[in-house]
Amino acid sequence: MNVVIVGAQWGDEGKGKVVDLYSAKASVIVRYQGGNNAGHTLVVGGKKTVLHLIPSGVLHAGKRCMIANGVVFDPAVFFEEVESLAESGVFKGAPSDVIWVSERAHVILPYHRLLDKLREEHAAKSKGKIGTTVRGIGPAYEDKVARRGIQVIDLIRPELLKTKLIRALEEKNILLKHLFGAEAVDFEPVYKECLRLGEKLKPYIRDVRADLTAALKNKEKILFEGAQGTLLDVDHGTYPFVTSSSTVSGGAMTGTGLGPSAISEVIGITKAYTTRVGTGPFPTEIEVTEKETAEKIRAIGAEYGATTGRPRRVGWLDLVALKYAVEVNGMTGLALMKSDVLCDFKELRLCVAYDLDGKRLNSLPSSGEDLERVKPVYETVKGWGAFPAAGITKLSELPQDFIDYIKKIEAFVGVSVVLISSGPGREQTLELKQVW
Ligand code: IMP
Repeated sequence: MNVVIVGAQWGDEGKGKVVDLYSAKASVIVRYQGGNNAGHTLVVGGKKTVLHLIPSGVLHAGKRCMIANGVVFDPAVFFEEVESLAESGVFKGAPSDVIWVSERAHVILPYHRLLDKLREEHAAKSKGKIGTTVRGIGPAYEDKVARRGIQVIDLIRPELLKTKLIRALEEKNILLKHLFGAEAVDFEPVYKECLRLGEKLKPYIRDVRADLTAALKNKEKILFEGAQGTLLDVDHGTYPFVTSSSTVSGGAMTGTGLGPSAISEVIGITKAYTTRVGTGPFPTEIEVTEKETAEKIRAIGAEYGATTGRPRRVGWLDLVALKYAVEVNGMTGLALMKSDVLCDFKELRLCVAYDLDGKRLNSLPSSGEDLERVKPVYETVKGWGAFPAAGITKLSELPQDFIDYIKKIEAFVGVSVVLISSGPGREQTLELKQVW
């Protein structure tokens, strides 16, 4: 029985909290895509921890946390997180006893971060900015697919690394100098830093695919920790305003080297409303149409990026997009987050269809340009007022209007809500179905 957790919207749905809860019962927690563009905020015992790269399961003692081949790996960020977790007393022994990094993961290098920034600045001139996290994620994935990437294993093979780095820089420097008018990157300092980080990384480097296969054979419980969200998926998201990885559940397979039969549950995480950071289509956005409501939701929900601190764009729950997410991930259940944020509203809206030039659409259009132009068709529902903060044990203890909201979601998207979260703490959770 293994579980994949995926974002059902544009990321920031609260995956970190669900991963933390499910990790209690798992043996292995694995990140399979993305990199330190993710930001998982966890509140345990009143203490807030934000993790960008290391799986959130690390906060539970005795778990093995793996960073698999599908991740783009920034070694400098990795060691910052390891050191900060060590200072908080998270590790009982050596950190490398519990955190393992795939030999095959691709490395984010300084020139990837630089290119990410320059590309965004360049694109802004023609209004084509993606609004990336500027962590070098896209350029690192580009190199992987273009077959000129540097993998974790290369960091501990000095001669091979030298050849690969020289080849990579040759091309990068032409781009930097001639397209972006920037300074060329010198080989020597990058090479030395890679060797230094590689040496430090040695105890963590493993054949993670083989480790996961062994865990699977031993019937250990594996939790696949997704980052970002379905609508940011490079194939199925709102292209080109997406991230560069497979954020959907299928990414858990290519990103680890396990086959689909390893998965028994796919849990999608959604907020009771919607947010998005960065640019790109967002049909139910209310920043202009209902400015005060957007500001209120942002303030109550603390909707500011965990990685970049940017204010998140806010909108109503989009059931058309959510149904699409259920389908492309093969979801078996939904976790509904942040319902408490909507307590103060007398009326709420649910998007049940789109209108495109007078034509009703019941599913997400493939063209981003069409999605940019659609008008949401809303159903207005009653708000639910106060919400018990913690210690709820049954759905019937919650307000009837909230129960009706859940029923509407379930009926529309075709899967059940298995978990309700009403605050950041572990105790502010109602599990309607135990996935393990
Ligand atoms: P990148 O992943 O930094 O290349 O950014 C591409 C797009 O994905 C931008 O719109 C980012 O704001 C968005 N993005 C990346 N990571 C996250 C995340 O963890 N939460 C929400 N949005 C994200």
